[in-house]
Formats: sequence, structure tokens, C-alpha cells
Amino acid sequence: MSTNLNLSCVMVIFGGTGDLTHRKLIPALYNLKYEGILPDNFAVISVGRREKTTETYRNEIYESVKSFSRFKMDDEKWKELSERIYYHRQDFSDDDGYIRLNDFLNELDKKYNTNGNRVYYLAVAPESFETIVGKLHKHCMADNSNSWRRVVIEKPFGRDLKSAQFLNQKINEAFAEKDIYRIDHYLGKEMLQNIMVIRFANAFFEPIWNNRFIDNIQISSSEMVGVENRGGYYEKAGALRDMVQNHMLQLLTLTAMEPPVNLETESIRDEKVKVLRSLQVLTPELVKKNVVRGQYGPGKIEGRGVPGYREEERVSPDSKTETFIALKTYVENFRWSGVPFYIRTGKRMPAKSTEIVIQFKPLPEILYFKEYGIMEPNLLVIKVQPQEGIFLQFNAKRPGTSNIIVPVQMDFCQNCHAGSNSPEAYERLLYDVMRGDSTLFTRWDEVEHSWRFVDNIAQVWNDENTEISKYESGKWGPKEADELLARDNRKWWNIGEVSFKNI
Ligand SMILES: NC(=O)c1ccc[n+]([C@@H]2O[C@H](COP(=O)([O-])OP(=O)(O)OC[C@H]3O[C@@H](n4cnc5c(N)ncnc54)[C@H](OP(=O)(O)O)[C@@H]3O)[C@@H](O)[C@H]2O)c1
Repeated sequence: MSTNLNLSCVMVIFGGTGDLTHRKLIPALYNLKYEGILPDNFAVISVGRREKTTETYRNEIYESVKSFSRFKMDDEKWKELSERIYYHRQDFSDDDGYIRLNDFLNELDKKYNTNGNRVYYLAVAPESFETIVGKLHKHCMADNSNSWRRVVIEKPFGRDLKSAQFLNQKINEAFAEKDIYRIDHYLGKEMLQNIMVIRFANAFFEPIWNNRFIDNIQISSSEMVGVENRGGYYEKAGALRDMVQNHMLQLLTLTAMEPPVNLETESIRDEKVKVLRSLQVLTPELVKKNVVRGQYGPGKIEGRGVPGYREEERVSPDSKTETFIALKTYVENFRWSGVPFYIRTGKRMPAKSTEIVIQFKPLPEILYFKEYGIMEPNLLVIKVQPQEGIFLQFNAKRPGTSNIIVPVQMDFCQNCHAGSNSPEAYERLLYDVMRGDSTLFTRWDEVEHSWRFVDNIAQVWNDENTEISKYESGKWGPKEADELLARDNRKWWNIGEVSFKNI
């Protein structure tokens, strides 16, 4: 980890009136304040277009913090923080606005001794990334000769390789790679940070983490919600761009990477990139065979009737946007040769859960198998959310006089107990930006290789005018997703949903 421990700064949040700022960013800053982690020399300027005073803005975000913070409202701490939060009104394209903003920043620098250090957080629609960064450059606001200046870019970073390359080039004109923090908020989640520890700090996992012992790996992320009010955005993105290009491939890289030479940011990122570079190239034939796309129709979620995707607000009635994707791929290197990686993500599914299931190979059929038939495989499950923990399934004898072998489970959940209160991903990420640690952010070449993988799929879908598979809301995707694994004599494990009742 390379860090610069001078945390003093002014954080400028472009999109300060938006949903992300209200639900995630300001509550995260409050939580950091609550825990005493925020630096003393610190201030925030929230930039929005709507007409309002700083006082009105502070009242609005007070309500958001009350609703979305993981800590209760402590009025004293809130007062200390909110006194340092200011509202600045301007349009992103308005040059005068940046001149006023820069003057205001210089004023706050003096008032709070922030040394000219700045975080520019772009909590805005992707169409505005280029405009804002270009204006910051034009008005010398990215100039880091006497202080540090960092930019945080929300997802999605482009909508294909070409647009991502263009955006990256524009950002590079203003900021050096080391000062660009591309957010994938999954990387801020506790269990993602834990994957490397589980793998590389346990003698009984790492030696068997390879194709000799592992049969297949399943990376699943399911949501019960539909597109809600994000139809406009989602129509252009779909599950492939919204989930696979970033979160799912990040989960895969952490699961498959080699041990880095040390814990330096670039050492870790180097290993992650190698995984992305080793991904099987999906030819059009492979896409047609091994990638399933689905879209939810009407159905029931927790007993409540819900509409199909095409009936949602701001969604075309003949939309072909996928709300579900399942795919099989391989990491073509020595460790993983022959081990399929199955990825699956979708909306309106029966459970909210993100998990990585490592299924181990069966043992030789010599002892128990002849008499007892096929046994359940050993499973190691890394539960990412909503439960955070590890689940282990292995075989044991059922107590009693009969010789029956059953699968038993050890289920460690680190956030299930009363009093446990894991930090939100954005807390860790904001703190890391301030201290200059970009380990949990994606480096450009990671983004580039992820888009290469995803573009191969998008291209085929674009060229082939095939119908999208439908699935009923409340089910685990279309039947083709089950068939994808059934063809390999395998099945999906839905550990987040199933509670085992064998004993
Ligand atoms: N919301 C989430 O949970 C979430 C999760 C992950 C990633 N993201 C990403 O985060 C980013 C922001 O999402 P969001 O949901 O917060 O969007 P949002 O609610 O639509 O907010 C957009 C913000 O941009 C401002 N804005 C738009 N055009 C402007 C202009 N020309 N000049 C000045 N201000 C302008 C808006 O200001 P006014 O309202 O004052 O006009 C508002 O503050 C997006 O890239 C999204 O993909 C969001």
C-alpha cells in the first residue's frame, strides 16, 4: 500500500444534490467523522445546479444522514462536520462557475489550512465526466505543483473500449494516472478486501487453490429489486455493462490472481491485470454457446406482484436490454487451466446475495461411494453481501447407529451478530482517496482489459438479432442459465437463499 498520510484537503463533490451524494457520500463522511477518522483540516464543497443556500443544503443532507448513516445522529459531531460543508451553484459547462469555485477553494484552503490539497469527486452522469475534467484543466485547478489534486470517477467508465479509451485520454490531459481514482465500490466491501487474506493467510486454502483440487468457481450476484427509477440509465447499460464489466470481473480477478510479491498497490494491481489478460477470448461461437442473456417478465417477489422490465418507467416496450446474464469462461493460465468460471448476475431474483462458490473436485470412488452413492461436493463460499462471511460444506457421518453420510455446514458470518456494524464501502474508499491509497480502485489497464472481454459479447449481441430469453420475476433467471451448467453436469449453488436442513 503506498499512502500519503497528509489527509488535509477540500473535497469538491460535483453532483452534490444527487442521489449518490445523499445516500452514500455524505453519510460516509459522517461515519468517518463519527469514528474520529476525518482530518481536522477538512472541508467539503457540494456543487449542484439547483438554486439553494448552504443552509438549506445542510438541512437536506441532515435528513439523508439520519436515514442512511450506519451510526445514530450525534448532533455535536454533525455540527462539527456540517459547518464545513458548503453549497456552490453552477452549471458544469460554465467557465465563470469554475473561476468562482476556484476562488472559493482558495478561501477555504486558508480558513482550514488544507494546503491546496483537493479531491474532485465526480458523482455525476458519465456524460459530464469529460466536461468537468476539461474545465478543471483549463482553469489550472488540477495543477499539483504545490499540493496534491486527485479526481474520483464514478462508474461507468465508458460504455465500450473505444469510449473508455477516449475518456481516459481526456482525464490524462489533466491528471496523472496516480491521481485518478476509478471507483468500483465493490472493492470497498469488507469481504472483497478479505479475499486475499482468506487465500494468502490460511495454510489450508492456498495449497488447494488450483485446477488439481477445484472443479469450478461460481460468481453470482443477485438482486430482488428491478430497475426502479433508473430505467433511462439501465436501458443503455444492461447487466453486462452495469455489473460484469466492473464488479463481477473484479470478484473474478481477486479469486483467481497469483499471490503478489508484496502488498504494494501496483504489485496487487499487476496480478489482477494478469488474470484479465488470461481470460479466454470469447469468439462469436463461444458467446452464442456460453453466454445467456435474459430479461425479467412479470412475477412475484416475496409474494408481491411486480411488473416485467418492459413495463417499467422509461423502458422501451420492445426493449432488448438484458437484466440478467450468465456466462462460462476460463482463466487460461497454469493454475486454472480446465476450471470453468461461471458468472451470473440479475435483477428480480429470489434473493439478494453476492457470493463466490468454490466447488472442489470429488474424491476417488473407492470407500464410501459404492455403498452410499454420489455425495455432495465440498464447497467453500465467500459471502460478500448482505451476509459477510465464509461458508464451508463438507461430508460427515450422521450421528446414530446407521452409516449415513451427510453434508454439514460451517457458516461464519461476521456481520450477523448484534453490535457488528461493518463500514460502508464508500467510507473506506473516501478515506483511501484522502490518504492517497489507490489499491481499492481500478487501474486503467484493468478497465481496458475488462472492456475487451465485455465488448466481444456486446458485439455478438449487437450483430445477431436474436430474441432475449425471458424469465419470470422471482426466479433464478431463464432456463438457459441452468442448461449452461447442466451441459457440464453441474448446477448453480444458491447458498444465500438455501438454508441447509440435513441434520
Ligand atoms: N445513485 C447510486 O446509488 C449510484 C450507485 C453507483 C454509481 N452511481 C454513479 O454515480 C453518478 C451519479 O449518480 P446519481 O444517481 O447521484 O445521479 P443523479 O441523482 O441524477 O445526480 C446528478 C447530479 O448531477 C448534477 N448535474 C447534472 N447536470 C448538471 C449540470 N449540467 N450542471 C451542474 N450540475 C449538474 C445534478 O444537479 P441538480 O440536481 O442540482 O440539477 C445532480 O446533483 C453516476 O455516474 C452513477 O452511474 C450512482
